[in-house]
Amino acid sequence: MRVLITGASGTLGRALAPMLAEAGHEPVLFDIRPLETRHRFVAGDVRRLEDVRRAVAGTGFVVHTAAIHGIHLKDHTPQQFHDLNLTGTFNTWEAAAGAGVEGLVFSSTMGVYGASRTLQGDGAVAVLREDTPLLPNDVYGYTKVAGEEMCRYHGRKHGIPSVALRYGMFVPEPFFREGIRLLYGGVDALDVARSVMAAMDALLAGTIRWGAFNIESPLPFAEADGPGLRRDPIRVVDAYYPGAGDLLRGCGVEQLAPITEYFPMQRAEAELGFRPERDFGGWLEELRARPEERAETSPPWP
Ligand SMILES: NC(=O)c1ccc[n+]([C@@H]2O[C@H](COP(=O)([O-])OP(=O)(O)OC[C@H]3O[C@@H](n4cnc5c(N)ncnc54)[C@H](O)[C@@H]3O)[C@@H](O)[C@H]2O)c1
Repeated sequence: MRVLITGASGTLGRALAPMLAEAGHEPVLFDIRPLETRHRFVAGDVRRLEDVRRAVAGTGFVVHTAAIHGIHLKDHTPQQFHDLNLTGTFNTWEAAAGAGVEGLVFSSTMGVYGASRTLQGDGAVAVLREDTPLLPNDVYGYTKVAGEEMCRYHGRKHGIPSVALRYGMFVPEPFFREGIRLLYGGVDALDVARSVMAAMDALLAGTIRWGAFNIESPLPFAEADGPGLRRDPIRVVDAYYPGAGDLLRGCGVEQLAPITEYFPMQRAEAELGFRPERDFGGWLEELRARPEERAETSPPWP
């Protein structure tokens, strides 16, 4: 099937296109930024409906990733977020509905939980399940909540099924920071692309018509770990990953920042059959094999 990726020159788009091709699909790549690729590339702006219509023509499925995100909050205005994330998503849906596509995967974020991430009492850890209230407290999270709502609306109005994937952080980082980030809502970019493939398969198979899913690296923590995760995270981490404390200290990590939240992954596993391949335990194994690695700062994240 021909699959349109908006924002295809970005981190997710570049990880996803080869997976789609490998699975026998024909990716159509759409971006405002040129990309060297062997696949079909359409240059254009999601803020212009006619551009998106041109890109979606002849495709059967859309993966919408074009957006500015959390890291852009400091140097972009709310109007820019509105124009790209809201108008861009609106145009993508308009064009997708006009072309009669079979489904759409929307790139959401753990930022949709907003204030729910900090409302817990003293010593508690915020467990952010998909049915946690969405209380975005910045314009980025707000545009993504509105984008999820657009998906539900277009499902009702045009009968087009869709899924919103609430990704953790996957902006490229050096090895050490990327690994520690897995404890703080990080996820591997390849796992993000795999989650899109799983969502697409479920939508095309008709096993799901709508759903929103956490896509973060899985963590073994429980609510009872809350006080420990805040006060002495290395000790809790060491209990779940024996030897982690010594390994981290040997790399210059004297302390970890308090862990105040985690995102259970059971829903994606149950409904999409998706579980990330890369997790903190796997990263520790890689770290053991790279004795030259040192944390630049302690704590190494955020
Ligand atoms: N990277 C993360 O950590 C993260 C976390 C949570 C959610 N997300 C979401 O996942 C999606 C993909 O993230 P990413 O890291 O791959 O993003 P990215 O910034 O790497 O890529 C976004 C792409 O969109 C393109 N784009 C920007 N303006 C455009 C326009 N007007 N028209 C067409 N294309 C345009 C950019 O050129 C870029 O190639 C985004 O929707 C983002 O909000 C990302």
